[in-house]
Amino acid sequence: MSEITTMFWKLPHQVDIKHPDIVEIAKRLRQGEIIAFPTETVYGLGANALDAKAVAKIFVAKGRPSDNPLIVHIATMEQLALLVEEIDENSRKLIEHFWPGPLTIIFKKKEMVSELVTAGLNTVAVRMPNHPIALTIIEAANLPIAAPSANRSGKPSPTTAEHVFNDLNGKIDGIVDGGPTGVGVESTVIDLTGDVPMVLRPGGVTIEELQEVLGEVKLDPAIVGQKEQPRSPGMKYRHYAPTGEMWIVKGDDREIIKKINSLIKEKSLIGKKVGILTTNDHRESFQEADLILAYGTKDNLYPLAEHLYEALRIFDLNGIDYILAEAVEEKGIGLAIMNRLKKAAGEKFIQI
Ligand code: TXA
Ligand code: MG
Repeated sequence: MSEITTMFWKLPHQVDIKHPDIVEIAKRLRQGEIIAFPTETVYGLGANALDAKAVAKIFVAKGRPSDNPLIVHIATMEQLALLVEEIDENSRKLIEHFWPGPLTIIFKKKEMVSELVTAGLNTVAVRMPNHPIALTIIEAANLPIAAPSANRSGKPSPTTAEHVFNDLNGKIDGIVDGGPTGVGVESTVIDLTGDVPMVLRPGGVTIEELQEVLGEVKLDPAIVGQKEQPRSPGMKYRHYAPTGEMWIVKGDDREIIKKINSLIKEKSLIGKKVGILTTNDHRESFQEADLILAYGTKDNLYPLAEHLYEALRIFDLNGIDYILAEAVEEKGIGLAIMNRLKKAAGEKFIQI
């Protein structure tokens, strides 16, 4: 990039394709610039998916390993046809039910999709985001847009424009501020190219929802165990890690409260600042912690997903050295939450 000036546009949630900022952003994307924008899951860092030079800039700005492929974002079915060899029966069903939305589908790619986007794989990951700003930008640019999450590699994904700014200011050409994102965790990635559909990354669309549409759906064994090599390259990297040491606490409800409180005492005594991540069911139970962040309830984990990455950043901003996160049940959106918590904690568990 020639200058260290990151453009900043603030846009209303609903925006017209003729809005002067949209026209400007679309033009810049067509010229090969890289620009962050909101989607319904997290902020993405977009580039023209058909321009290898523009895509290369994404990897540099994020510090992303080049063997980790990108998701291509589209606004119309015509754009899908540009990218993929064929759309089979199962893909059709998923598209009908979940697009636009937080579901990424792996397809056999067409020749013209750059090797850089797919990290040399013969497949391409595609999704149609459910966010008016994202869709309007893609439509106005009239291009498929490659976009990973707009964070520095290894950091939590950004759910506000401020998070993007803190990670990437001066490294990218522009940021579109459309307010906080809604889902909070990334899209679910599903691979339909094998015998049985397989979820490679749990996310905004739950396995249960996918099973209702497809019947049998498997979860990549590498997501549950740790021995196997994950099929989605990005899943093998440590991610989302806060600066403080983080543990997940799992077990019987009443025992958990006792255990956490005794750890708070123990760590405070040796001068550590202790942070707790939990749901509102237990908000009042950990009075002696330095910082308690509680979202949603055990019966409705969606607010926890929405605020999860923000919480990890808040712990850092407050200089928390020791974080205890209460485990949630690994079903529904809880599966994606636990997947991200495990990565943030480097798989460290306190089992009671
Ligand atoms: O919600 C989301 O998906 C966000 C927003 C911006 O759309 N994007 C996002 O992108 O999370 P990123 O790059 O942070 O994660 C993409 C994931 C990685 O784990 C990557 O390895 C996987 O998708 N992936 C991409 N192409 C793939 C392919 N052809 N086969 C298997 N996995 C693939
Ligand atoms: Mg990411």
